[in-house]
Amino acid sequence: MSVARADVLAAVEVRVANVQLRRHMLACEAIMRALAERFDEDPDVWGLAGLAHDLDSEETEGDFARHGAEAAATLDAMGAPPEVVHAVAAHNPATGVAGETRLDVALTVADQLSGLVTAAALIRPDKELAGVQLKSLRKRYREGAFARGVDREAIARCSELGLELDETLALGLEAMQAIAPDLGL
Ligand SMILES: [Fe+2]
Repeated sequence: MSVARADVLAAVEVRVANVQLRRHMLACEAIMRALAERFDEDPDVWGLAGLAHDLDSEETEGDFARHGAEAAATLDAMGAPPEVVHAVAAHNPATGVAGETRLDVALTVADQLSGLVTAAALIRPDKELAGVQLKSLRKRYREGAFARGVDREAIARCSELGLELDETLALGLEAMQAIAPDLGL
């Protein structure tokens, strides 16, 4: 691959000041890597899409149609694989780039799943991921009033990847638990 993870991470650290947002991107990276392994794709490539997808969030706050497009342009200039550039643009439908590939759909799933898993940890008294069980995550998914900002339909697009919801939730939970200290959870 022509772009190094360290360079993308450095770009994230320069352009994203919000620690929670950086952690969200690390969480997405971990989930994307796990999904890639599940489908025998390249975890380094899929991980990059997760790591970089909200790179431009702070700059495009008042202009949502640019969100994703700016990050995609940066990645393209850095020499990221075209499928990563496409997925990052497509993760925001407002860019007009349609999400159609497996990588595009996976990023949409990972983006929302990371939010659900984070919320499931934060509602615990210890606020730790270690104690979150698949059973409770499943329950949280079904509770529409819990973490309302999480788009359940986006997570349900795992079916387009040929994955059951349960397997998807378990995969996301395990991937994030494995880097819990980096996520502050
Ligand atoms: Fe995101």
